[in-house]
Amino acid sequence: MNEIINTMSMQIPAKSENESFARAVVAAFCVGLNPTIDEVSDIKTAVSEAVTNCVVHAYQKRQSKDDLITIECKLFPQMLEVTISDCGVGISNIKQAMEPFYTTEPDNERSGMGFTVMQSFMDSISVNNRNGGGTVVTMRKHFTKEKAQVSGE
Ligand SMILES: Nc1ncnc2c1ncn2[C@@H]1O[C@H](COP(=O)(O)OP(=O)(O)O)[C@@H](O)[C@H]1O
Ligand SMILES: [Mg+2]
Repeated sequence: MNEIINTMSMQIPAKSENESFARAVVAAFCVGLNPTIDEVSDIKTAVSEAVTNCVVHAYQKRQSKDDLITIECKLFPQMLEVTISDCGVGISNIKQAMEPFYTTEPDNERSGMGFTVMQSFMDSISVNNRNGGGTVVTMRKHFTKEKAQVSGE
């Protein structure tokens, strides 16, 4: 069950308009596994939060075409692994950053709930600093139905 059945990798500039594009691409990538509407919606929400963090925090809203977000997806028979990474400022205290309501931008309509949302909508999340600077967020979501069951293969 650990066999990778598909992979996808893309890079997009850290612009806010790419948030909806990124979540639509990741949703489309896992549609072959016949996920439920709720599962797709959870994945989209989590991807939006991670991409928004790259735009707002990693590159501090510069919206430059040179500031890239990398999205890598691996699809397993019943699970999606999505990694969203940037080459931005990084996070000095990851444990603290992941606490509910913690934000370094309290004056800018940020709720501090992004990581909490990712944690609750996905089955697992790991956040790491990247060698050379930036942040790497890896999330996993298991699907309840097996592809074989729903498609009758
Ligand atoms: N990609 C990132 N690069 C740098 N800092 C980040 C990144 N993602 C999150 N952070 C830091 O973690 C904090 C918490 O993130 P989050 O839970 O999404 O709340 P919010 O985005 O509302 O501040 C942010 O305020 C920011 O300081
Ligand atoms: Mg956030």
